Amino acid sequence: MHVLLATSELNPYSKTGGLADMVSALARALAGTGLQVSVVTPLYRGMTKTFPGIEPTSWRWDVPIGDSLVDGRFHCQKPSPNLTLWFVEQAEFFDRPGLYGEVGRDYADNSARFIFLSRAALILARHLPEPPKVVHCHDWQTGLIPILARHDQLRTGWTQPPRTIFTVHNLAFQGSFPAASWGLTGLPSDWLHLESALHFQRVNFLKAGLTQAQAITTVSPNYAREILTPEYGCGLEGLLLKRYNDLGGILNGVDYEEWNSASDPALPASFSAQDLSGKATCKAALQREMGLPEDSGVPLFANISRLTDQKGSALIIQTLRSLVDAGESLQFVLLGSGDRALENAFGDLAKRFPTQVAARIGFDPALSHRIEAGADFYLMPSRFEPCGLNQLYSLRYGAIPIVRAIGGLQDSVVDPRDNAAQATGIKFTAYSAAALHKAILKALALWKEPAWLQHLRHNGMTADFSWEKHSAEYVALYESVCRE
Ligand code: ADP
Ligand code: GLC
Repeated sequence: MHVLLATSELNPYSKTGGLADMVSALARALAGTGLQVSVVTPLYRGMTKTFPGIEPTSWRWDVPIGDSLVDGRFHCQKPSPNLTLWFVEQAEFFDRPGLYGEVGRDYADNSARFIFLSRAALILARHLPEPPKVVHCHDWQTGLIPILARHDQLRTGWTQPPRTIFTVHNLAFQGSFPAASWGLTGLPSDWLHLESALHFQRVNFLKAGLTQAQAITTVSPNYAREILTPEYGCGLEGLLLKRYNDLGGILNGVDYEEWNSASDPALPASFSAQDLSGKATCKAALQREMGLPEDSGVPLFANISRLTDQKGSALIIQTLRSLVDAGESLQFVLLGSGDRALENAFGDLAKRFPTQVAARIGFDPALSHRIEAGADFYLMPSRFEPCGLNQLYSLRYGAIPIVRAIGGLQDSVVDPRDNAAQATGIKFTAYSAAALHKAILKALALWKEPAWLQHLRHNGMTADFSWEKHSAEYVALYESVCRE
């Protein structure tokens, strides 16, 4: 079977968050099972220079976007015999400094940019010599693909369009645009209604995917249940309830080739669950790199994230301030960027407590590996978390995760209260600084119990979140939508 994955981010070519990691690892794992896999994604600025393996093809085409005809060209890379990556060149849309926007503001023409990406996906789906049986769409940027495909079937004589699957990585980002932007899609105006993409008088790309795809998945079983409730459904819970029978949750995996502490080129020393001596070297190096006193006896906490309300960054700031004020012996390192007020608050905390708190504002994948390797504990107090990848990376790198028991965090971390023998981390329930504070105090107590600490760490490092396991669920889903 041939499957086409459509995505606006693909690790290592382009990345703002876990979407990039997930799609690239899923594609490789699927190809490893023997499926033919293609991926379509934009050719963003600088990619051909950084990745000389991406080669231009002579395949040029144009598609109408509103009243204009916009030209595109495919570039291509074939990392393995059954994996082909298609990069969509359209300089005006994609040769820009940001993926979705700059200095905190979305690009004004994001609707046109991602309608264009969706159209490019359908050109591949229709004209590749061996057309894909399934197009697997990821997040709002590719949400229009199912309805565009249906239109092409009914109005342009495409006899065998692919089945479509829509995966929600984050229900909070919906791609909501003024109703007038429907004109850019080229779809008939009466196709915009409450059962398609219309949502509060606007065009909602995510809703289009949720209403039109044959099957819907999200990135953990627990989040799949949570989004049926008003608390986590972002206003779409009614629609999701209607599609209950077509909705499932498949937990993300980890690319253990990239996240392998025994061979990670970003680390100053290698280590494994059997031999942790290199982890001590990584911790000392991280303390030096971040300007903190080098001290193996102090527990080192970490967080790497987009600084947004989703990630509970404000809780971390408030809790750290009170712990350090109270004289607790701990260190904390942050790597993140996003909300300016949160960036400044972390910066201020680091200035106020230079021997205990260090903050690096920016996006730095190599440093993110060094932090996971050097940290003793990893904080993830998210308000909501569809899956979360950093807790999975932390488990493998021996940084014990401290997580709020929601979304994929609930599915991937085991608290000693639930199962002492298999415990891997510390969980708390309330979204509050008080609850996080209590969880960190538990970590500080654990720090003083080396045998227990080692028990949790070892369980985490040997837990299996490999994609080989999880990709089989996608293969089964592809097969089942093809049978329908
Ligand atoms: P989300 O996709 O919601 O941001 P995930 O936990 O699924 O959260 O994935 C985030 C990914 O982005 C991880 O690979 C994480 O290491 C990476 N990441 C986030 N912020 C940064 C940063 N500032 N520098 C480097 N990597 C980052
Ligand atoms: C989203 C979610 C995150 C998830 C990632 C990859 O960005 O916020 O929880 O891990 O997608 O699926």
